[in-house]
Amino acid sequence: MKPVDLRGILKYVPQYRNKIFVIALDGVITESENFSNILLDVAVLCSLNIRVVLVHGVSSQIQKIADTMEGFEPSDVDGSGVTDDQTLKVALIAANRCTHEILEGLSTVDLRAVTCNGIISHPMGIIRGVDHLYTGKVERVDVEMFQTLLKDAIIPVAPPLGFDGEGNTYRVNSDNVACALGVQLQAQKVIFVTATDGLYCNEEMIGSVQAQDLQEKMNRMQSAFRPEQISKAQYAIQACQQGVPRVHLINGLVNESLITEIFSNEGVGTLIYANEYQQIRRATRKDIRTIMVLIRQAMKTEELSVRTYQDVESRIQDYYLFEIDGHAVGCVALHLSEDKSSGELACLFVTCHYENRGIGRKLIGFIEERARALKLKKIIVLSTQTYTYFKSKGGFVDGSQEDLTPERLEKYHQSRRRSRILVKRLEENKN
Ligand SMILES: CC(C)(COP(=O)(O)OP(=O)(O)OC[C@H]1O[C@@H](n2cnc3c(N)ncnc32)[C@H](O)[C@@H]1OP(=O)(O)O)[C@@H](O)C(=O)NCCC(=O)NCCS
Repeated sequence: MKPVDLRGILKYVPQYRNKIFVIALDGVITESENFSNILLDVAVLCSLNIRVVLVHGVSSQIQKIADTMEGFEPSDVDGSGVTDDQTLKVALIAANRCTHEILEGLSTVDLRAVTCNGIISHPMGIIRGVDHLYTGKVERVDVEMFQTLLKDAIIPVAPPLGFDGEGNTYRVNSDNVACALGVQLQAQKVIFVTATDGLYCNEEMIGSVQAQDLQEKMNRMQSAFRPEQISKAQYAIQACQQGVPRVHLINGLVNESLITEIFSNEGVGTLIYANEYQQIRRATRKDIRTIMVLIRQAMKTEELSVRTYQDVESRIQDYYLFEIDGHAVGCVALHLSEDKSSGELACLFVTCHYENRGIGRKLIGFIEERARALKLKKIIVLSTQTYTYFKSKGGFVDGSQEDLTPERLEKYHQSRRRSRILVKRLEENKN
């Protein structure tokens, strides 16, 4: 594994500052030798102002307690089967011990943490004729409580237990808890810390996969997946569909895996990612007028170079629109160089009512994804007033006239805008 250097970490700091990461530890991880290293990694995340929520499982702990009880066999260990009265009692003991150990461990790395009753559940009920008794499913999360704790830099530790507000406690699956928290707290990431390297399909580890593709794969060939990983994969897909951009599966038995997954380009485990670009579509001839209206003001203030209706029309296949409820609120274009080895990101615009919501960044990310799909070596941008934005939010760096093709350089001189030339060289980066 490549060690993660400080410079490598620093480049992610602005991107992750104040963002929520839900970290779900399998029960077996909290008992492992590497657990103290994981808590140190959590301390690193907190020091970078990442807001961490910890969730833990207890399957391994339930089994261990059961092994000491003569004649007792738990009716379920992972919170997805039937939880009878006795198994619930054991689950409560196991969960309380495990939560306590996590709280204890966090205090050794000077992190403040609390456990809470913010997972609201109701019974799973009767499924195919089988009453699941004390197994519950997450109904909702007390978002306000979690947000209050996170705002005060206190780590909420959520056990796999749910409360119904009427004095009942249910055993819930920890993957379910983690993903419900991820969705309802609008987390940037859910990270499953497990005892395997990642998600396996036909015994090969998947490096990264879009949630929709994973869903299709699972529909087609569920038996190719390891049975014990199916629940995680399904909750991960669901979380991505409901707005969590990235779900990771990593091996918590390996030192530094958490930090390496988060702060390196390649990562070490499996990344399941949402299609963040579903609000972006290619423009058609019918959209030319909309684009002209959108960018009119920015052309007046010279933030954008002047384009005529005919200019846009002649390259309409290069333009994309960002839509909310069917209305275009932003646009961008990707013009390819004559030799098709590089692209120019142009005409980036977000209407003022929708500024500062990350739409500009999404449009840049989308263009980057398109450029990678087209195997372009680099993207350039020419900017007069927004170059700091492209550098700080878009990951571009200063380029030079040598980054332009001779044809583009000629136009550059003709325009007399003296724009700054910025460039982004494309290399693998899955974070
Ligand atoms: C530049 C523009 C596309 C940004 O769109 P957006 O959707 O508001 O951007 P995001 O939400 O992704 O990012 C907002 C962040 O960028 C910063 N930002 C916005 N415009 C900036 C600028 N001109 N220079 C530096 N930073 C800028 C915001 O302060 C905010 O910072 P924060 O996240 O630290 O609070 C939009 O303001 C715009 O359309 N401007 C006019 C057209 C233009 O200049 N286009 C570029 C042509 S080369």
